Amino acid sequence: MENIEWSTLSFGYKKTDFNVRTYYRNGAWGNLEVSDSEYLQVHMASTGLHYGQEAFEGLKAYRGKDGKIRLFRWEENAKRMINSARGILMAEVPVELFKEAIFKVVKLNEKFVPPYGSGASLYIRPLLFGSGPEVGVNPSKEYTFMVFVTPVGPYFKGGVKPVNMLICRKYDRAAPHGTGTYKVGGNYAASLRAIVEAREEGYANSLFLDAREKKYIDECGPANFFGIKGNHYVTPKSDSILPSITNKSIITIAESMGMTTERRKIAVDELSEFDETGACGTAAVISPIGKIIDPETNKIYEYCRNGEPGPVQMKLYRKLVDIQTGDAPDEFGWISIVE
Ligand code: PLP
Ligand code: COI
Repeated sequence: MENIEWSTLSFGYKKTDFNVRTYYRNGAWGNLEVSDSEYLQVHMASTGLHYGQEAFEGLKAYRGKDGKIRLFRWEENAKRMINSARGILMAEVPVELFKEAIFKVVKLNEKFVPPYGSGASLYIRPLLFGSGPEVGVNPSKEYTFMVFVTPVGPYFKGGVKPVNMLICRKYDRAAPHGTGTYKVGGNYAASLRAIVEAREEGYANSLFLDAREKKYIDECGPANFFGIKGNHYVTPKSDSILPSITNKSIITIAESMGMTTERRKIAVDELSEFDETGACGTAAVISPIGKIIDPETNKIYEYCRNGEPGPVQMKLYRKLVDIQTGDAPDEFGWISIVE
């Protein structure tokens, strides 16, 4: 294994030793196989390649001060992958198989779990796709489920340094009643033009609006959006965003700290009323937003004027990360140890 500089890792792919795979054929999942290849042999007419019949997940393993490896709320990812499978008519991966796969692949790649205190973690990427051939538009009869891992650092450069976001009015990521609530590849393909254009203009990511009216905040690239007013946490309610496990956890933490929380539509105009805003997700953790720019009105919504992240989200961030790494007690029952 090459020497990895854990503390300067960015969010990207690094080869590890093993991945795990299993195939759904004739109506049943096979046994989990271990592979040391980074490649898959895929049928050229597979529905995953042609018709986007594909879903993925993302979760992390953290090394604690005690050296133990902790997974955060993996059952939620298992359930969400089942929901994604239902959304685009794929074979479902049973929770037990999902569990077996992620625990096994983490254990096999134990040496790639970054050390405690490095700020890095092991990103776990389960992937499910239609691997059988179809030429007409049909769901596949065969599926591949695999999981690989890769050590990662922060998604946004600078970790918890505030980042700037560009409101996107040119493209939609997902339609109402479309696939926005599922973690399917098509949503990410649909978001690429917006994200790349925002990055080219110097922004960390784009802030998508509701596709119907272009009036409400949807989500923030690969993360949910939240705003804070005093002691109140607000996050968008929308039928075209991914239900973030991180967001749901922050809501629980906020309430346990005596904050009030709300899921409701957030109009773009309301951005001027927040004391703090941020993006949250497995990859993003909590990423404070410094400025949001609306290209239509040229309005600039500014937070963190001193360049520092807001104090309320930093408190939430600290608690969330402390639970994930085992520095704080697992008071909500979110942690599983990989033995
Ligand atoms: N929204 C999108 C589009 C995402 O890709 C992700 C990442 O998974 C999230 C939100 C955050 O979800 P979670 O907190 O479950 O990682
Ligand atoms: C995650 O936060 O796990 C994600 O899936 C984001 C990703 C698309 C990079």
